[in-house]
Amino acid sequence: MLSVRMRASLSGRHVSGAERLVGEEELTGTLCELLRRPGKHDFLKITVERVEEVHTLGKPLPVSSYEFGSVEEARKFARTMLVKSGVPEEVARLGIELLSSGANPEGGNMRGAVLLDTERGDRLEPDQRRGIRTVRVDWKDRSAVRRELLSRGFTERTLDALAIATKNINCGVVAELCWSDDPDYVTGYVASGKLGYIRITPLKEEGDPLGGRIYFIRREKVREVVECLEGKAFLIGC
Ligand code: COA
Ligand code: AMP
Repeated sequence: MLSVRMRASLSGRHVSGAERLVGEEELTGTLCELLRRPGKHDFLKITVERVEEVHTLGKPLPVSSYEFGSVEEARKFARTMLVKSGVPEEVARLGIELLSSGANPEGGNMRGAVLLDTERGDRLEPDQRRGIRTVRVDWKDRSAVRRELLSRGFTERTLDALAIATKNINCGVVAELCWSDDPDYVTGYVASGKLGYIRITPLKEEGDPLGGRIYFIRREKVREVVECLEGKAFLIGC
C-alpha cells in the first residue's frame, strides 16, 4: 500500500493536513482529493511512500457524546473520564491545565502531542515545541464510516480524530485528551481503551485559539509507543 500525506501552510503557518493509506490503483483519485482539501494556502506538499506492512484493526473505539452548559463543567467531566481511564487525578488536572494555557513553552500551540507520564505527570516528548504526531492511519472503508458518523450527527472532524485516537490506544496510549486549536471548534474528546471515544462540548470558549493533544502513557513504554505512533501503519475496519 501507499501512504499519501498532504500538508499545506500559509505564511509559514500550518493550515491543513490529511493522509490516506491506499492501493496503487487509488493513487490518482487520492491525489486529486487531497489537492482540493486545503482552503487558502501558499505552500502545499504531498508525500507518497510505499508501506511494507499494514496492521488491521477490526473496529474503531465506540463513540459517545456529551454536552454541558459551561467549559468548567465540561472540563470537570473530562477530568473524571481521565481518572476512570486510569490517570491519577493530579495528572489529569495537569493535562487539562497544559492544554488550556498552551503546551508549547514558547507560547501557543505545539505541532504534535504532549506525552505525559501517567504516574508522575512528567513530560516525555523529546521536543516540547513539536511533540509527537500520529501518522500512517486510515479507514478501510472511509465512506461507510463517514456516513455512519454523519448520520449520528457527528462531524467530518470526528472521522479523522477517531482514526487517530483508535490508533493511539492500539499503540499503548492509556488515555488521550484533545481539543482543537481552531477558535471556532469547541468540541474535544477523551479517549481510552476502557471508555472508548467520548466527545465533549464545550472544552473551550468560542474564539480561544489554544488547543492540542495529551497522550497519557507509561514511562517504561515511551520508546515502543512512539515507534508505533510514528512508524506502524494501521487500517481500521467498521
Ligand atoms: N501541525 C503543525 N505542523 C505540522 C503538522 C501538524 N499537524 N504536520 C506537519 N507539520 C509541519 C511541521 O512544521 C513539520 O515539521 P516538524 O516535523 O519539525 O514538526 C513539517 O510540516 C513536516 O512534517 P512531516 O511530519 O514530515 O509531515 P508529513 O508529510 O508526514 O505529514 C501530516 C503529516 C500532515 C499528514 C499529519 O501531521 C496530519 O496532519 N495528519 C492528518 C491527521 C488525520 O486527519 N488523520 C486521519 C486519517 S483517517
Ligand atoms: P486539530 O485537531 O487538527 O485542531 O489539532 C489540535 C492539536 O493536536 C494541534 O495543535 C497539534 O498540537 C495536535 N496534532 C495535530 N495533528 C496531530 C497528529 N497527527 N498527531 C498528534 N497530534 C496532533
